[in-house]
Amino acid sequence: MKSLLIQHIQSLAGIRRSDELLVKGVAMKHLPQEEDAFLLIENGRIHSFGKMEAAPERADEMIDATDKMVIPCWCDSHTHLVYAGSREAEFVGKINGLSYAEIAARGGGILNSALLLNQTDEAELYDSALQRLEEVKNFGTGAIEIKSGYGLTVEGELKMLRVIRKLKENSPLTIKATFLGAHAYPIEYKENRKGYRDLLIQQMLPAIAEEGLADFIDVFCEQGYFTVEDTEEILTAGAKYGLRPKVHVNQFNIIDGIEACVKHKALSVDHLELIAENDLIALKNSNTMPVALPGCSLFLRIPYTPARRIIDEGLPFALATDYNPGSAPSGNMNLVMSLACINMQMSPEEVINASTLNGAYAMGIEGELGSITIGKKANLILTQKIPSLAYLPYSFGSNLVERVILHG
Ligand code: NIG
Ligand code: FE
Repeated sequence: MKSLLIQHIQSLAGIRRSDELLVKGVAMKHLPQEEDAFLLIENGRIHSFGKMEAAPERADEMIDATDKMVIPCWCDSHTHLVYAGSREAEFVGKINGLSYAEIAARGGGILNSALLLNQTDEAELYDSALQRLEEVKNFGTGAIEIKSGYGLTVEGELKMLRVIRKLKENSPLTIKATFLGAHAYPIEYKENRKGYRDLLIQQMLPAIAEEGLADFIDVFCEQGYFTVEDTEEILTAGAKYGLRPKVHVNQFNIIDGIEACVKHKALSVDHLELIAENDLIALKNSNTMPVALPGCSLFLRIPYTPARRIIDEGLPFALATDYNPGSAPSGNMNLVMSLACINMQMSPEEVINASTLNGAYAMGIEGELGSITIGKKANLILTQKIPSLAYLPYSFGSNLVERVILHG
């Protein structure tokens, strides 16, 4: 039995009962905290916490957290962290005036990454992804969702998902895998879109299910990619294998995809840079988490998700990085939280709730992670000496995470 005692914590934040599985509406403005606190970890789990005067005398390892904060690790529920190569040439193209759609039309974008991925072997993909995981861990991320979707062939998609499985086995982070075969139509299927959907449904899905490689299914539901009808067909097929949807929708256009996602019991709908009244109504009658990706808005210079409209409707809200080579080449949750405060008028308490418990919910691990709760996995951030929690998103571009404790 190994124990770790953190003492004299200036503020221990994100304290929740075990039956609080997400935070929504006005409650998001509140981040329950204990000041001058201790927290005891035993066997990698939160054993107890409270006021310093009630702290146990000793443990196998002791940390002094005077003037420092302890918060749950960031739960980044939307990334494409496994990829090959990079796309800085497109970045320069964008600086020179090309849009995301124009770049894609010239063979750039997702298809460019797919080409590179299919030329890269599993070991190399694994090594680069492991390096990125190490990087995001140092930013405070303790749980992460990773999508496939740069394979777009049976072999390529399986290769990506096997890399994610290997990361799950070897990384201290908690990882969830999402099958995103419906990320873009490959060039060969440009005139035969049904052919690609058939391949996805009849060959990719059964092979993935056979090896148990995916936890969720995703579709890029967007003009020029997968229609709402395509999306429904794919989600229906995924449901036969028990894969709950987490869907890319309303990034560039409103195409009534959110209602369809809710109908298919999506765990999350992600992007939502644009949102209509009927989208909000659909979300209100659902258990679906809206997820915003402000790093993508910054990088592509597209609108930021209207967080205020969504939260003020009484809905929950999560933040994630979208870490990928095309639209958000950064896995820095601290920056994402600053962007949400600055450009989405979210308060520091709201962005922390959106990046911890609600992020955990958006990848189905809210019972294990995302809050300071007895029995949960001890994936925690110990900050540097900081005057207040608001100082975290205020210091945009800095990394004030001193230490990341994963599973004790
Ligand atoms: O979430 N929108 C679709 N997929 C990614 C972009 C992927 C890429 O450009 O490589 C996104 O923004
Ligand atoms: Fe994405």
